Amino acid sequence: MSITINGKLHAIQPGERLIDAINRSGTEISQVCYHSQLGPIQTCDTCMVEVDGKLLRACGALAADGMSVTTSSPRANAAQREAFDRILGNHDLYCTVCDNNNGNCTVHNTTKLLHVEHQQIPFTRKPYEVDMSNPFYRYDPDQCILCGRCVEACQNLQVNETLSIDWESAHPRVLWDGGAAINESSCVSCGHCVTVCPCNALMEKSMLGEAGYFTSLPKPALDGMIEIVKEIEPEVGYGPIMKLSEMEAAMRESRVKRTKTVCTYCGVGCSFDLWTKDRQILKVEPAHGAANGISTCIKGKFGWDYVNSPERLTKPLIREGDSFREASWEEALSLVARRFAEVKAATGPDSLAFISSSKCTNEESYLMQKLARAVIGTNNMDNCSRYCQAPATTGLWRTVGYGGDSGSISDIEQAGLVLIIGSNTAESHPVLATRVKRSHKLHGQKLIVSDLRENEMARRADVFIHPRPSTDLFWLSAVTRYIFENGLANQQFIDKWVNGADDYKKSLEPFTMEMASQRCGIPVETLTKVAHMIAEADSVCILWAMGVTQHVMGSDTSTAISNLLLATGNYMRPGTGAYPLRGHNNVQGASDHGAMPNYFPGYQKVDDPDIRAKFEKAWKVTLPPKPGLDNHMMIDAIHDGRLKAMYVFGEELSLVDSNANYVGDALSKLDFFVMQEIFFSETCRFADVILPASPSLEKEGTFTSTERRIQRLYQVFEPLGESRPDWEIIQDIANRLGAGWNYDHPSKIYEEIASLTPLMAGVTYERLEDYKTLQWPVAEDGSDQPLLYVKQFKFPDGKANFFAVPWTEPSDQQDAEYDLHLNNGRLLEHFHEGNMTYKSEGIREKTPCTFVEVSPELAKDRGIETGSWIQLTSRYGKVRAQAVITDRVHGKELYMPMNSVEEPVNRLTSSFTDKATHTPAYKETSVKLQVLGETGESPLPRTNSRFGHPTPQNGVEVERKWKRTDYREPGGSQLVQIQTN
Ligand code: SF4
Ligand code: SF4
Ligand code: SF4
Ligand code: FES
Repeated sequence: MSITINGKLHAIQPGERLIDAINRSGTEISQVCYHSQLGPIQTCDTCMVEVDGKLLRACGALAADGMSVTTSSPRANAAQREAFDRILGNHDLYCTVCDNNNGNCTVHNTTKLLHVEHQQIPFTRKPYEVDMSNPFYRYDPDQCILCGRCVEACQNLQVNETLSIDWESAHPRVLWDGGAAINESSCVSCGHCVTVCPCNALMEKSMLGEAGYFTSLPKPALDGMIEIVKEIEPEVGYGPIMKLSEMEAAMRESRVKRTKTVCTYCGVGCSFDLWTKDRQILKVEPAHGAANGISTCIKGKFGWDYVNSPERLTKPLIREGDSFREASWEEALSLVARRFAEVKAATGPDSLAFISSSKCTNEESYLMQKLARAVIGTNNMDNCSRYCQAPATTGLWRTVGYGGDSGSISDIEQAGLVLIIGSNTAESHPVLATRVKRSHKLHGQKLIVSDLRENEMARRADVFIHPRPSTDLFWLSAVTRYIFENGLANQQFIDKWVNGADDYKKSLEPFTMEMASQRCGIPVETLTKVAHMIAEADSVCILWAMGVTQHVMGSDTSTAISNLLLATGNYMRPGTGAYPLRGHNNVQGASDHGAMPNYFPGYQKVDDPDIRAKFEKAWKVTLPPKPGLDNHMMIDAIHDGRLKAMYVFGEELSLVDSNANYVGDALSKLDFFVMQEIFFSETCRFADVILPASPSLEKEGTFTSTERRIQRLYQVFEPLGESRPDWEIIQDIANRLGAGWNYDHPSKIYEEIASLTPLMAGVTYERLEDYKTLQWPVAEDGSDQPLLYVKQFKFPDGKANFFAVPWTEPSDQQDAEYDLHLNNGRLLEHFHEGNMTYKSEGIREKTPCTFVEVSPELAKDRGIETGSWIQLTSRYGKVRAQAVITDRVHGKELYMPMNSVEEPVNRLTSSFTDKATHTPAYKETSVKLQVLGETGESPLPRTNSRFGHPTPQNGVEVERKWKRTDYREPGGSQLVQIQTN
């Protein structure tokens, strides 16, 4: 198919928007409101073209075979200019003194493109104040051109549904929750609106007065300069004025650095450019990220203050009695090497243990496990996936073969039905959640949510089920049995691709719908509806997280999820599959790269003699043949005297492991404990030596996100003070122990990884250049697999396996004394205990402390109000916090987020673990509640987004603009409205 553009023939793709075809052809055309990731908004009218003699908006039309398009005919051009003139009436053009004059301002660039010399419609101020209330960004109505990009992004991409434009008003503007101050609205500070704003109406506060050479001038001086420009414009025209501002923009290039990096918080793997001036962070600019495009959440967009925090560790510290003294690197590293050697000599290599960081890079995890195995001689090596992800990985290993998400976020986006179990996706994986919210809102995707809390996804779901705590395995198995019994299974798929169907079906005998209903407290009708929705959907993705894994039956429930997908044929196709949502930015990568007690990198078994021989040859050492201790076993081993020394980096072990009091007691018993950190964390209190490390912005390397996506991060800053990248520190320790390593850059480490790891055989830094990514497995020729199991499953016969899983009673159940169930997890604003996020003043302002969510029923029963101080006591410890009364939780179920160092929820959790993986059963905790008799302010301030009142609508609703009596189509009345969604 083809069209002609200005007389030249161009091929088009089926369903392509006309504006995309024009842009692809290289023809320049004005397009102020259009953004390819938002789709057509049709508010600005600057993309007018003539098609077969009629004017239409190129963004709102589809290209059709044989179309004859003219973009620069006198009529089209006049319409474009007229439309843009109206825009300039809403925008004071003061580019030279504007912080958005960075070469990428759409209004500036369109002024130039259309050769605007004078504007017909003079700029007029709007009768509104600038809104500076949000800690991270501001809205200036006077500069707002009413393009609606921000509204579209907030309503239909982020789907927070905060923004709208009051098109019927005499002076339309962007509204938050229909007219609230930004900081008192439902705005979650994700920054989508700021990112897509084509001018300076919405700007990051960190840019204001900082980006330009003249923008920091006092306001009267700035106003004076703007006045001078306005005065000379009628005489000289915009041409020379634009030239001046372009010179100033070019000057900025030498002092504003833009560096691509990858978010260091959750496992979604958002990537973006970081704009910096010296050590100052000006802004985060997402655009091309493979996982996120223009999307971010509050943490990725605005949560980077920790990097320059004065609390950063900048010198090595050595314990002296009950305190620490600063030391030189030489002294600290020599001490570490000497003590490791002494412990190894005295009590053997297995009396040392190593824990790698899920926040640090793949290369650093690789070096840590190499240090443990090749230099010390132990497999006592683990990472924090033990605390969250190991059961999900086990469930997938049992059934389909690879321990990772079976597809990409784009598969989740295109699924006919998404089932979310035990995941607060909108807060824990915010950008991934936006893709589900968007598909559900706009594209008819069905959504089922199973959770204890009525979180945002639950509120949006077509079906929300609230099973009794720890009973997901039961209802999943019952639904699968029902599907088999009622002929709803995909028999053709099972016959061809799955082993063990008969035995598996037998194993489902105890799981009737009636039993499940009794056990889980869900009506049979609801379960039947869920079964039919899953079986009848054209494609299903199941997403799960720690609400599933952190139980004694976490691996079994994960297995049941995969069994259900197999029974319904929901693998091997786009839009299907299993998605355990990885928590930390690099928790997938830490395991992938060998930070596990039983696997070398790429899940190659340490007890396989051939594999071991390969590593022994490459590393020129003899390696220990037996799997080592996982991090749960390490704590027990310290208590019973087998483990004497430990080296941990980037892991708040004493707070994030369950039964924190027991863990703390263990750490204080160690003979020698090395912590490598960016802050003096709680765990550092137990250390003998603390080594100051560099966060992601101060080093190079790669992260692997939940989609198995490997991405490069580039160095933004030099390490602060004397801090150093973790890989350099680990190498120095290894070399002091005689290793003779010589890596001068992380890329050299990756060369070694690729040479020894078939799963990553084709990964090279060149193939990951800039925004390029690879999703493992990566073959030697560099081809990767965004969707797994396209040709076969990862077992020798190419088939998947049904894996029978029995019912297991949860641990630590309620009784007369410990009568309440305590759930725990993340919050949108904070990452885990908040070591990084609390350094951001704006985040602290919105969410200053932890709290306990109490249901209205329980609150009434116990006389609790929001703000009441309560004490929770479990069989293992106690914490005090203030209550928040909310209907997110029900009955005798409480929820406590993890964001506290002082009162960590893990003082309450037990040492029970998942049967298969030793992942702590964090979600099986019973407590008693004592009301302490004091009531203070709400621990969640009014400025927290949960108190807002969103105003859902379908995008910007441009039709309301077109209905205004003062609106007329530019270029006359022959405009053809062809709308596409
Ligand atoms: S939630 Fe707030 S920051 Fe995010 S797009 Fe909407 S208005 Fe903007
Ligand atoms: S604030 Fe919104 S409507 Fe105004 S110019 Fe920016 S993106 Fe467009
Ligand atoms: S925290 Fe997660 S969702 Fe938010 S920006 Fe970072 S990677 Fe993206
Ligand atoms: S780009 Fe704004 S109407 Fe088409």
